[in-house]
Amino acid sequence: MEPWPCDAIGVLLVRYMDRREFGGDMDERFIPLTETVRALPATTPFVGPEALERTNGAVFKARIGANESAFGPSPKALAAMRDAVAEASWYGDPENFELRQAIAAHHGVGMDNVCVAAGIDSLLGLVVRMLVSPGAPIVTSLGAYPTFNYQVSGFGGALHTVPYRNDFEDPEALLDKAKAVEAPLLYVANPDNPMGSWHGAASVQSLIDSVPTGKVLILDEAYADFLDPVEIPAIDVSNPCVIRMRTFSKAHGLAGARVGYAIAHPALITGLNKIRNQFEVTRVSQAGALAAFQDPQYVGQVVAEVAAGKADIAKIASKHGFTALPSATNFVAIDVGGHEQATRMMAELGRRGVFIRMPGAAPLNRCIRVTVGTEKDRAVFADALADVVASGG
Ligand SMILES: Cc1ncc(COP(=O)(O)O)c(C=O)c1O
Repeated sequence: MEPWPCDAIGVLLVRYMDRREFGGDMDERFIPLTETVRALPATTPFVGPEALERTNGAVFKARIGANESAFGPSPKALAAMRDAVAEASWYGDPENFELRQAIAAHHGVGMDNVCVAAGIDSLLGLVVRMLVSPGAPIVTSLGAYPTFNYQVSGFGGALHTVPYRNDFEDPEALLDKAKAVEAPLLYVANPDNPMGSWHGAASVQSLIDSVPTGKVLILDEAYADFLDPVEIPAIDVSNPCVIRMRTFSKAHGLAGARVGYAIAHPALITGLNKIRNQFEVTRVSQAGALAAFQDPQYVGQVVAEVAAGKADIAKIASKHGFTALPSATNFVAIDVGGHEQATRMMAELGRRGVFIRMPGAAPLNRCIRVTVGTEKDRAVFADALADVVASGG
């Protein structure tokens, strides 16, 4: 018989000693999780509508909770993806070359200023991994987009939060906090999720200009397509203190294809390229995103439909005495008067087949958050809301 390799004996010995030390049953203490991962909760904050449907045993009649596009992708994107499916046995281009080329040309930047990945969510993880050491203080708004927090916690960063001011992220306070704790990384979404509020170009530019040298601002512009272009500050890739992020998940209707991009100084993009999953964006997704990007007319139609839908939702809300907050996104936060009311309303709407969400922190959580769906979705929402209100919900 071959002798056992030393490593294997070592592993057995460590296991034996661990078992004695920890008292027997195999549990996660016998798995070499990092301290960071061990400390994380086993549950994730992202309960998708599919999971809720499985729990409820019923399919939602209106899926208006995750800020997806109910209007679907451009027919050109659908055709491109259909064609690409036939080539799905091949990996996608790891350089995402054609898509990056189109993005760079559109924004008037170099290809070395663009990194494509599986959505902003993936890019957030990459940036955090690139810039955050365990224990590093990281700044965001209390109740802001939770995936950023999830990524920071996953890499062992220490979150420092700043309250919203009158339902807007507070750039000055965020900056003061970032300077006070010497945060290497600050996160701001403009327009914001979950409130839909936004700051104009001058205010965002002033925030960008105030980021101290050697620190980085993530400017998450997932909803930029819904914002008046004059409200968006010019992209300056000579500034190494800011990373702009965009996605195909909203106006382009490709949330399920998972494509987003970062625009930044080449040094930051080089950093991202060192650690990104090279084959992350599939052939099908690259083809769909490229075709969607080349169909701005369709995006314009979606933006117009969303604007009409927001006006509609405001009317539905006001019929019941609720206030729809102004929004530069594809969703509307509706103030229903309190956290308890919002929580109950979300549950009651869910029972009536309407999937919505609500902000996760006070005082934002006095609102429910409703994505602009199709006319049919809005009719379902209107009926369900009327029923909830009539039954005292
Ligand atoms: C502010 C913000 N950033 C990023 C995302 C996710 O983008 P992606 O689908 O590109 O990961 C969302 C989705 O709701 C969002 O609201």
